[in-house]
Amino acid sequence: MTGRQWGMRSRRPVGEITRGTTGHNRLRRSDRWITAVHGPLLRSADRPLIVDLGYGASHITTLELFHRLRRVSPYAEVVGIEIDPARVAAARPYETEGLSFRLGGFELPVDRPPLLVRAFNVLRQYGETEAWHYWDLLRSRLAPGGVIVEGTCSEVGHRAVWAGLDASGPRTLTLSARFDAFERPSDLADRLPKTLIHRNVPGEPIHAFLRDFDHAWAVSAPMASYGARQRWITAVEALAATWPVPRRPRLGGPSRWRLGEVTVSWDAVAPTGAR
Ligand SMILES: C[S@@+](CC[C@H](N)C(=O)[O-])C[C@H]1O[C@@H](n2cnc3c(N)ncnc32)[C@H](O)[C@@H]1O
Repeated sequence: MTGRQWGMRSRRPVGEITRGTTGHNRLRRSDRWITAVHGPLLRSADRPLIVDLGYGASHITTLELFHRLRRVSPYAEVVGIEIDPARVAAARPYETEGLSFRLGGFELPVDRPPLLVRAFNVLRQYGETEAWHYWDLLRSRLAPGGVIVEGTCSEVGHRAVWAGLDASGPRTLTLSARFDAFERPSDLADRLPKTLIHRNVPGEPIHAFLRDFDHAWAVSAPMASYGARQRWITAVEALAATWPVPRRPRLGGPSRWRLGEVTVSWDAVAPTGAR
């Protein structure tokens, strides 16, 4: 299939225009994770293509992603895709070598398959069944070895949760928060991806995970005298005794936990009855 055919299957962008809320540095936590976890993947390609899907009313989070990726992968090329033509027109003046913006949707109208797709605060505005469907569509568009980072965050980005996927399906779930942005870990439940947020009920694995995390956080309270960071690290270590939380980089270990982050294997928190 030629590049043109690859990118031109669909005439009308797949999806719907939704709220364009965004903001400076809002996605800093997930950008930091992407560069740490997927830096080696991006460096393995000559000209890795990264898509930022649904960048919103401003180009700013795409520009930030571009700069951060270029630090770990100097030849990275980033394409921001938006389904709202007015938002594409507003972003175009900020194009530069390696950074462009174009109209499109989940079909990803780019001329070659992306190695990484980032979609933040996009699928949240769709239905749960649609979210699974669009995960499938995005996965089918990836370059070999490619990955997707799909998540949700609070308005200023102090609380965020994202799923990591590859061509075979979801692989990880990551929670990330500023230490002054929550009282207990389950406060992050309101940022769960669409495929999980309605499953935070008794009997579902994600509910049990957050319950156990809250418990680990509570029993780690004495560590708070050394600061919230130390308390978080202690709580995650306890959680890792019973949940498949990676304990070593790139996904886990104190170097990640100290950032207010924890990653767990998707299979452990997947909804019951998920396909
Ligand atoms: C809430 S904004 C998120 C902006 C940015 N990603 C962030 O997190 O700050 C969601 C954006 O996704 C766009 N969008 C929704 N569905 C889309 C689709 N299928 N393809 C491309 N953009 C889409 C909307 O038009 C909107 O501008």
